[in-house]
Amino acid sequence: RRLSRDPGTHQPLAYLRLRRAIRNVIEHRDIEPGHALPSERDLARVLALSRVTVRKAIAGLVEEGLLTQRHGAGTFVAERIIKPMSRLTSFTEDLRARGLNPRSEFFERGIGEVTPEESMAMNLSPGVAVVRLHRVRYAGDEPLAIERSVVPAILLPDPMLVDDSLYEALEKRGCRPRRALQRLRAVLLNAQHARLLHVATNSAGLSIERRSFLDDGRVVEFTSSWYRGDIYDFVAELHTD
Ligand code: GLP
Repeated sequence: RRLSRDPGTHQPLAYLRLRRAIRNVIEHRDIEPGHALPSERDLARVLALSRVTVRKAIAGLVEEGLLTQRHGAGTFVAERIIKPMSRLTSFTEDLRARGLNPRSEFFERGIGEVTPEESMAMNLSPGVAVVRLHRVRYAGDEPLAIERSVVPAILLPDPMLVDDSLYEALEKRGCRPRRALQRLRAVLLNAQHARLLHVATNSAGLSIERRSFLDDGRVVEFTSSWYRGDIYDFVAELHTD
């Protein structure tokens, strides 16, 4: 339905317009996760576009992780959350792009003194004030991850500024992170984490640690997360030097 609508004229190239139109379809759940997109040939015919244009638009969305392709079977709206590792996006942005409803439940949203371990990781002087967030991240009712974030209070003076999205709060203060270092490690989810994530104890999980930076090199966040291994795929593009 939405595919036939004129996707607008802001972007000059047909494949970018189509890419945006398909992204809209996914965001609005006009095609549900796991369901197939019309074939390249049908899309090209119905929209009066060339096959090359359609293929290019689809390839871009596969790269973004919104679509998956199965050889010989076609193109599907991704069921698992496929997260390109090279893009510095937030949980909220990743979920919204898939038509999901991001939500947080906070265990902690307060301010305190940096611990020695945090001050090392964040390159902060001992004793400075930091905001701490400890929350379960949901898509609707489904828990996906547990996150503990630490942010220097000089950048985010009041934890209550984080309504749901940390990056939105940082963006409003002009300190959205620009670069990040991220470490992924396979873990078995312990009983406490498993209970919060509604999976069995010792299910597979990913422990992710992210340190993000401002342009001037200051650390904005130090976040330790536990993601459900049964839902997330992390994908990276690799190049030779
Ligand atoms: C991801 C990252 C975290 C980051 C968070 C921000 O989950 N792993 O390091 O803090 O996104 O998301 P949001 O802006 O939704 O709070």
